[in-house]
Amino acid sequence: MQETWIVTGGAGFIGSNFVRLALAENWCAKVVVFDALTYAGNLDNLQPYLESDSRLVFVRGDVANAGDVEKVFADHKPHRVFHFAAESHVDRSIQNSAPFVITNVLGTQLLLSAARKHETKRFLLVSTDEVYGALPLNSADKFHEKRPYCPSSPYAASKASADFLALAAFHTYGQDVVITNCSNNYGPYQFPEKLIPLMIMNALKGEQLPVYGDGLYVRDWIHVEDQCRAVRLCGLEGKSGETYCIGSDNEQPNIAVVKMILKLTGRDETLIRYVKDRPGHDRRYAIDSAKVREQLGWKPRIDWGNGLAATVRWYVDNATWLDRIRTGEFQKYYAELYGDRQ
Ligand code: NAD
Ligand code: DAU
Repeated sequence: MQETWIVTGGAGFIGSNFVRLALAENWCAKVVVFDALTYAGNLDNLQPYLESDSRLVFVRGDVANAGDVEKVFADHKPHRVFHFAAESHVDRSIQNSAPFVITNVLGTQLLLSAARKHETKRFLLVSTDEVYGALPLNSADKFHEKRPYCPSSPYAASKASADFLALAAFHTYGQDVVITNCSNNYGPYQFPEKLIPLMIMNALKGEQLPVYGDGLYVRDWIHVEDQCRAVRLCGLEGKSGETYCIGSDNEQPNIAVVKMILKLTGRDETLIRYVKDRPGHDRRYAIDSAKVREQLGWKPRIDWGNGLAATVRWYVDNATWLDRIRTGEFQKYYAELYGDRQ
């Protein structure tokens, strides 16, 4: 496809998986990664393409800076924008929510305006199932596109605001926007503040695995490549002004995930440490993805058991990637968050 795509947040976990797939499978002619390289952004995630593939251009810039945004649109005139950039970690939003409002809300508004000004064909906003709030345990209820938004954390509230801005742009200006609301992703290159990479990292080091509260909180895990393929499909074939819920029908209690990781890393359960709960912790997420499956023909390809085993192997094989991330900033964050949770 002879198109230029801007991928915001393309140096982060999901964005970089999207970019690597886009280049490996020729999804478009040119990919412009626009990323501020916060603690979560990492140019290592874009190798070897960054050094060797002229279809990939990296632009360092802030989605919440109007000048940076205008320049990347003016310089590259994208056909489509895939907007992944965000402050993405719930615990950090509880510590300090200001960067979440700036990046997730203001950043999305500035990008939407620039896309309108430069007549970008389509704006795909990557959002989350957390906008819907929480579900009770032991119910058949699931999140779906018609469910009202009810975000609980500052992170979820900022993502919900971004979604509303995108939908408002569709209704007010007729702007071509599509939103994906996805469940919890796992896979290679995920920053080790999130449950799965954190538990793998600690298990590999023989350190304690901090499980919040009773460990019976449920998440619906999807492999990152499955989410990226869904995002691409919605970005190409989704209906303008619509939202699509993406999920793999894979609900797991946290403690079951932790025990699987211990088994895969050859460690025993004495490493599990129950710690103080996350404030306002959402009990359960589950996605009904019938719409994207029936209307666009998407379905997940990667099975949970194989996907998790491959993810553990990736972290074992990429110990240097992990070591480079465990810098001073990460140590400080870890000490502050988990020090409070004894
Ligand atoms: P991440 O934290 O790994 O990466 C975020 C990226 O955005 C980083 O590269 C960072 O440098 C960049 N960024 C942050 N602030 C920026 C700014 N002001 N300007 C430009 N770039 C900036 O996040 P992720 O887990 O890859 O999530 C990507 C998107 O997917 C987010 O919008 C998130 O809300 C959404 N999402 C994530 C999950 C999940 O399980 N991780 C699930 C559903 C939806
Ligand atoms: O549902 C989609 C969302 O999934 C995305 O929008 C977010 O960007 C992403 O961070 C993720 O949010 P969660 O809060 O669900 O993910 P996290 O990995 O932080 O936590 C998963 C579960 O594990 C949650 O119930 C909290 C628990 N947990 C987490 C950590 C980091 C622990 O028990 N111990 C931990 O140390």
